[in-house]
Amino acid sequence: SIIMRNYQPNGWVQKKIQSVSLSIKKQPMALAYNSVLGIESTCDETASALVQSGRTILSHVIASQASVHAQFGGVVPELASRHHIDAIIPVLEQCLGNTKWQDIDLIAVANGPGLIGSLLVGIQTAKALAWALDRPLVGVNHVEAHLYASMMGVDHLPSLLPSLGIILSGGHTALHRIDGIGHYTLIGQTTDDAIGEAFDKVAKMVGLGYPGGPCVEERARCGDPQAFVWRPGTIKGKPFHFSFSGLKTAVRYAIDALAPPLSDQTVCDLCASFQKTVVDDLITKIRRAGAQFHPKAIFFGGGVTHNQYLRSCCADQLNGPLFWPPADMCLDNEAMISGLGYHVWHRSYRDERFSLQPQTRMSGALPSR
Ligand code: KG4
Ligand code: ZN
Repeated sequence: SIIMRNYQPNGWVQKKIQSVSLSIKKQPMALAYNSVLGIESTCDETASALVQSGRTILSHVIASQASVHAQFGGVVPELASRHHIDAIIPVLEQCLGNTKWQDIDLIAVANGPGLIGSLLVGIQTAKALAWALDRPLVGVNHVEAHLYASMMGVDHLPSLLPSLGIILSGGHTALHRIDGIGHYTLIGQTTDDAIGEAFDKVAKMVGLGYPGGPCVEERARCGDPQAFVWRPGTIKGKPFHFSFSGLKTAVRYAIDALAPPLSDQTVCDLCASFQKTVVDDLITKIRRAGAQFHPKAIFFGGGVTHNQYLRSCCADQLNGPLFWPPADMCLDNEAMISGLGYHVWHRSYRDERFSLQPQTRMSGALPSR
């Protein structure tokens, strides 16, 4: 029965307005639930993808707001949610193309971590679709999906377990042991800034644009990585943890000690030295984790994996097969959400169309289901 609460001058009046029996058909387990339509709106990209069986991308649409936020040097949350509202329906329509709504088996949506206003647009749209189509809805952890982006094309995953999972994004930096999709153990994480955030902050300090990571990488190409020698952050008693705030301060002091304005060559040297310090630190900790956990492979995920210097240093200095997300799946995208959504559903058969809530913050630890 549906209870409506109305406020009257003499107090709350509770009224039973209707007696209905909501008959929600139990999802027959035998159905394949192969075609997954997903929505991603955690930050400043509105994205949707149609993915078959967790791995075959049928369509994939992203509406980026980068140019809206670039002028402010970072994402403005209120602007982001307004732009999601404008973009979400056109993105879904374009993603669907000639596919009929009825051919979708399952809806997946990134329910966090992210900006509250942005998350709400994606989640409410996903709930409305699940209701209207009478299809189940699953919530997907955006950070886990970044890691899944490099596992998606691998068809011999069980033979590569246990593996290491390295998340390098704008909001998270973490090392996990992977024992299967959905089975992770946190080994180490950042105690302050995330790695992408450190790239963005250093870019700002030396006067480069937003997002800073690609600008720093580009300038670093013509810089001397030995020009400035900085020590990476270490945490006593936590050999796999990261800290980037000390390094950020060291860059600040180095800039303050130089006579302004910074020459182009100095900016390049600062970027190259910062990038080298961060990548060397990362490789040291991955090797340390490798010596302890003996992984059969390493999977990388998150926006910073776009960095080619990082990829080539890892290829030269790390053993074992390394898996990186395809170039168009490093940054926020929806294929990783639809793809992982397939596994989340087939693991739990838990329809969240009535219950899913946004999670603005999630700890560095990935969900272990
Ligand atoms: O994973 P992502 O799309 O966002 C989060 O989920 O947090 O990553 C965005 C981050 C930004 O901090 C951006 O500066 C960084 O990834 N990034 C890079 C590069 N491309 C993007 N950092 C270093 N080098 C790059 N080429
Ligand atoms: Zn992301």
